Amino acid sequence: LDNGLALTPPMGWLHWQRFRCVTDCVQFPDDCISEKLFQVMADRMAEDGYLEAGYEYVIMDDCWLSSERDSDGRLQADPDRFPSGIKALADYVHDKGLKLGIYEDYGTNTCAGYPGSLDHLEIDANTFAEWGIDYLKFDGCNVVADEAMEQGHLEMASYLNQTGRPIVFSCEFPLYRGDAANYSVAIEACNLWRNYHDIEDSWDSLTSIVNYFKDNQEKFASVAGPGHWNDPDMLLIGNYGLSYEQSKAQMTIWTILASPLLMSVDLRTIKPEFRDILLNPHALNISQDPLGLQGHVHKTIDNIDVWMRRISPVAGEQFSLAVGFVSNRKDGYPYRLEFTLESLLDLEYPGAYVLMDVFGDTEDILVRSIDTLEVRVKPTGAVLWHLVLQSF
Ligand code: GLA
Ligand code: GLA
Repeated sequence: LDNGLALTPPMGWLHWQRFRCVTDCVQFPDDCISEKLFQVMADRMAEDGYLEAGYEYVIMDDCWLSSERDSDGRLQADPDRFPSGIKALADYVHDKGLKLGIYEDYGTNTCAGYPGSLDHLEIDANTFAEWGIDYLKFDGCNVVADEAMEQGHLEMASYLNQTGRPIVFSCEFPLYRGDAANYSVAIEACNLWRNYHDIEDSWDSLTSIVNYFKDNQEKFASVAGPGHWNDPDMLLIGNYGLSYEQSKAQMTIWTILASPLLMSVDLRTIKPEFRDILLNPHALNISQDPLGLQGHVHKTIDNIDVWMRRISPVAGEQFSLAVGFVSNRKDGYPYRLEFTLESLLDLEYPGAYVLMDVFGDTEDILVRSIDTLEVRVKPTGAVLWHLVLQSF
């Protein structure tokens, strides 16, 4: 969507994966979907380095709504869980230097059953703008006519545009439309879009999504770019399902895929080693590269995927790229691969490269593309390199 927003993959925090639809604030006072939860996460983002690193959107997912529209047909938040209202929450979030995202659905009801936007697109776009919303996640449950979704999302994009407020528009219709999805419309109407099923808190769920992206990698790479991104769904990092190695693997793949980086973790209790992955400045640098090219699996050796993404040249150098080694192996030792860069990557530009090991603690080294190198990748783990050409 050409609205000047999301020129690099959006970064933020989205409640769904970790907090779901917990509406019982008596049993779960600290975890229920309430204004308090978003205030607390905004505090953590502003104070614990996330905002500084680029994570700027605090995004509410399903289950914030009241079960009825108000007497004027406008959406309203659940009065018990959001007693101050969404506008006050937006003010709170904006005061921290963050932006606020919200969730609605193109159908009659959201996936969790709250009132949807069907037949109310314009009034809902206006309401969001009046509240000071900066990002809309628009779902596609309970849709009456699937084939009308593309047209409907173009309409919603134009109503959002007419408000005059810059609002990132995140769509889900490609996921619901599957092979019938019109990605030209996605590019035109949306800043990002979900392509596949919801991520769950497990390595299996993650790999099923990654496999879908691998199976469609040329197609998906061809539709991604500044202002319009594929979205393989939230980061699981710091939750219950991924190990430390698997968390580095998710960060590596999402970085190379130029994916939105939407954390969904309890920032009050996240362990430091997971926080360090989310805040790794070199990984974020690759993720946010202004060229915005989506990478792909270049080849697979011994069940280790070699991911590659072309990233922008740094002044004075002509070529730089990110290379990720992601292991699908389950035989429990750090598997060793030996190669030259030239043969591994079929390099367009042989020469001398500065090699940075993004998650390692070694100094950058200068290597020639004909040198024999090795990498050791732990089971279901990853190694991410940033390579910058120095000279031919
Ligand atoms: C769908 C979406 C999820 C989440 C839930 C909320 O399943 O794909 O990301 O928004 O709805 O109900
Ligand atoms: C695709 C479709 C066309 C048209 C355009 C709109 O290319 O195949 O019919 O809808 O998108 O951008």
